[in-house]
Amino acid sequence: MFEERITQSAAVSPMEERQETTLRPQKLDDFIGQKNVKENLKIFIEAAKLRGEPLDHVLFYGPPGLGKTTLAGIIANELGVDIKITSGPAIERAGDLAAILTNLNENDVLFIDEIHRLNRSVEEVLYSAMEDYALDIIIGKGPSARSIRLDIAKFTLIGATTRAGSLSAPLRDRFGVISKFELYDYDELSHIIGRSAGLLGVQCDDASLMEMAKCSRGTPRVANRLLKRIRDFSQVRHDGVITPEVTKLGLKALGIDELGLERLDREILESIIHRFNGGPVGIDTIAASIGEERVTIEDAYEPYLIQSGLLYRTQKGRMVSKLGYHHMGLDFPGDEEKADRSEEQQKLEITL
Ligand SMILES: Nc1ncnc2c1ncn2[C@@H]1O[C@H](COP(=O)(O)OP(=O)(O)O)[C@@H](O)[C@H]1O
Ligand SMILES: [Mg+2]
Repeated sequence: MFEERITQSAAVSPMEERQETTLRPQKLDDFIGQKNVKENLKIFIEAAKLRGEPLDHVLFYGPPGLGKTTLAGIIANELGVDIKITSGPAIERAGDLAAILTNLNENDVLFIDEIHRLNRSVEEVLYSAMEDYALDIIIGKGPSARSIRLDIAKFTLIGATTRAGSLSAPLRDRFGVISKFELYDYDELSHIIGRSAGLLGVQCDDASLMEMAKCSRGTPRVANRLLKRIRDFSQVRHDGVITPEVTKLGLKALGIDELGLERLDREILESIIHRFNGGPVGIDTIAASIGEERVTIEDAYEPYLIQSGLLYRTQKGRMVSKLGYHHMGLDFPGDEEKADRSEEQQKLEITL
């Protein structure tokens, strides 16, 4: 469905992948936001270059579409080395990984997307590669089998994952730099959309940029998708110029509300409100009640619902906040002031 494609950031079609490449910033200075991640990396990159050594292994984690792949490419660019891109599910056997590793040149970057999906035997090869730049290969079978050690070029592994919790401890411990990606604020998103509009050659005023930024769920990939869809509306209705009116019209037609929520977001909130009295309810129960995968809800929908204060997590499960009820046009059942206090309390408990 139309609306589905905007949020389901995990699924990227090959055509979109090609389009994304044209919008991807190539230099650290063009990468907007993620200040903490960027500042630290800048120093580590500089230091690695000064020493003529590979950069320490880096792990990026955070929701899809926040720029993990993009930043990996930028790091390689800034280091002036080649990058080889692969993903956890694509490396089926230990031999596949060995082939990739032996083909790397000194200080190159190996990017493994969805690194939490590497299988065990492949992961074990990675340990010695990351630690000692060596591969332990078993030759022969049974009693005559022996292990030989093969040196490989020094390299930097950049791993990306939407779920740092699913990574095994031994793998996680081998990363020298672990960076969390946060959702972007409106100013950063409008900056990103403005930059993309420039690259796509679309005229767009500041008010429209902000309008789109507010509906982008804190996610650059969603922001770029919105821009392209609104551009379609502007070309058909408005000589290709994006105005606030065209933007509003487009968002409405796409089924996106003023907070950027789509059908599935609203279904999640509705389900918790109507079937489970507003919660607390477990994530698996929510997933079953709306017929979605648990990981899709956790990775693509929940972070934004939580960030916007519509939903919150407690030890007993998810709850719709007072704001969540109001956003759905409903009165909050019970004492509003008490709810404020208990929401704060519960949030505190979960962060401690
Ligand atoms: N900080 C940023 N500045 C500008 N554009 C960005 C930024 N982060 C992401 N993007 C854009 O969003 C798209 C998705 O980013 P990507 O790196 O593929 O996300 P991830 O790997 O985290 O899923 C890219 O095409 C890129 O153009
Ligand atoms: Mg990616």
